[in-house]
Amino acid sequence: MRIPENVVERVRDSSDILSIVQDYVRLKKAGSNYLGLCPFHREKTASFNVNPARGFFKCFGCGKGGDTITFVMEIERLEFVDAIRWLADRAGIEIPKTEEGKKAYDKRESIYEALRFASEYYVGKLNDPTSGARAREYLNGRALTEKTISRFSLGYAPDSWDGLIKAATNAHIKLETLKKAGLVAERRDGTGYYDRFRGRIMFPIRSHVGKFVGFGGRLLADNPDAPKYLNSPETEVYHKSTVLYGLHQSKRMARQEESILLVEGYTDVLALDQAAIGSAACCGTALTLQQVGLLGRYVKEIRLLYDADRAGTAAVERAVDIVLQGGVAASVVALPEGEDPDSFVREKGADAFRLHLKTATKDWVDAFFDASLSDNGLGTLHKKRQAISHVAQRIAYIKDDILRKMYVQKASQLFAIAERDMAYEITRVARNNQQQQRPPQTPPEGSTGAAPVNFDAISEPEKMLLQLMLEEGGPMIKYILGNMAYDEFQEGPSRELVNLLMETYEAHGDDVMSAFGSGRTNADETARQLVADILIRRHEVSKGWGAKKINVPRLNEKSKRVAEDCMMRVKGAFVKRQIQHLKHEMMNAPEGSDARSRLQMEYLNQKRYLLTINDGKLFEG
Ligand code: CTP
Ligand code: MN
Repeated sequence: MRIPENVVERVRDSSDILSIVQDYVRLKKAGSNYLGLCPFHREKTASFNVNPARGFFKCFGCGKGGDTITFVMEIERLEFVDAIRWLADRAGIEIPKTEEGKKAYDKRESIYEALRFASEYYVGKLNDPTSGARAREYLNGRALTEKTISRFSLGYAPDSWDGLIKAATNAHIKLETLKKAGLVAERRDGTGYYDRFRGRIMFPIRSHVGKFVGFGGRLLADNPDAPKYLNSPETEVYHKSTVLYGLHQSKRMARQEESILLVEGYTDVLALDQAAIGSAACCGTALTLQQVGLLGRYVKEIRLLYDADRAGTAAVERAVDIVLQGGVAASVVALPEGEDPDSFVREKGADAFRLHLKTATKDWVDAFFDASLSDNGLGTLHKKRQAISHVAQRIAYIKDDILRKMYVQKASQLFAIAERDMAYEITRVARNNQQQQRPPQTPPEGSTGAAPVNFDAISEPEKMLLQLMLEEGGPMIKYILGNMAYDEFQEGPSRELVNLLMETYEAHGDDVMSAFGSGRTNADETARQLVADILIRRHEVSKGWGAKKINVPRLNEKSKRVAEDCMMRVKGAFVKRQIQHLKHEMMNAPEGSDARSRLQMEYLNQKRYLLTINDGKLFEG
């Protein structure tokens, strides 16, 4: 169906590109533009620009650009007409519908409509002095204000088998659609349908852009035979793993604070919102990577605030893994035994809660250590070993190099092990992670060896480190990888070989060379070529390295010193790249901003670190 030109114009004029893009991308101001990570391609540094004055966006990374309508078409994968509808819906602009248009109306839209209708029906029942009296009493008893009740469109489903069905039928909503919306269930004998939600306080679940997608229903009367909460099933429009309760209402706050609380229950979200604290909850499921990805568009940090019971504590541990894996910072807020956020706020008040947040928020690594201790989990060395490997796993998820180093330092202090052992463990698990993600490599059919690869891009000191590890095996591998972060090695074949060396060492023990020689490794063609390149190069290296006053390793006592010298060079090159990168970021950050001063500090730290490296003091003592 065609949408009249003047309506398109109105929609275009009334949609603010900044607020729309911000539902998907965390943006920061940079001059007259806003800058963020492109939602259309993977990137680590921001190249996605929005110019609110012109109403345009442009990514200098992948080249995508356009106006608000283009953005919605791309991000929501909609056709032009549907993008206009989407925007009109958001802006509250009515699009005239013809009879024919109605028929063509997206099936999904009719499901959304049914859900919106149901929500209005439940709200109406709650407001009805007769049918809603007990439900109101209950909500008041939980200290929920009128404002909160309406902000979250709380409602009541009367204890009737067909109240909603009748009302919906009167409004010409098909039973079929109610079924697709998960609002009704089929009778066991197949003779018809009945209302799914009966005698329950209704919590509408909305997507982050505000669409009604499902419901959670809490039993009003205590009834041991019925579940306390009944939730909508998965439907065409409701995917539990991608939705967060309360995010629609809290996203603005979250974006400002760059942080959000993740809680367990609907009632927790309500109590916190009432205390002007933004939060969101998974709806009766465990946290997923998609949900973390969604939150990551708004915030830098997720603070986990789960019920202080056994289940809550276990759920926090799983959630921390997911949050870090999703590339978002994680912290944990503990509550007094037996409390949940809702009960805490109700008993102690909003101010006390805010104070508690300030004092009881711990970095995940501290929380993890404390939890391990209190479980008596560190009572045996075996348990401690497990905890170390778990911590390493989490640290390995952290992509920012400086931050990861800080965690290595912190975690090795907490668990009282050498930093280099922790670093080694992280490199080991990072490699495992990578392997799990990497599809199995099968050589192409009938290939007679790959074309020769040019390894000139790998620096000499780095090749020397690889050579030392190859030649000296176990002890040298442990020494070098205990002092080198995985990504200080150049991406590509060099890093692959590091993986392979470690893998081979772990599978076959100290004598790595003979494992390579006898083909007992998973080396692919490129790795084999690189090994050859390194071992052959050995004959030429003495000249070049001799000039730089470095001894060629002869597998003697000097090789450790050579390794140290090479590590300093590789680290130096890596830090220089970091410094370049920070400089670039610093110049992009607005003057006088927190971000800029933070970058400046990191920049100075790295400069200082570079001096330490160049002083050659890195391996003293
Ligand atoms: N939940 C659920 N089904 C249940 C119990 C719980 O889906 N049978 C989900 C709901 O999303 C609920 C959350 O788990 O909000 C937390 O459960 P719980 O702590 O038991 O509920 P509260 O939100 O604290 O609710 P109330 O204070 O009303 O007991
Ligand atoms: Mn609870």
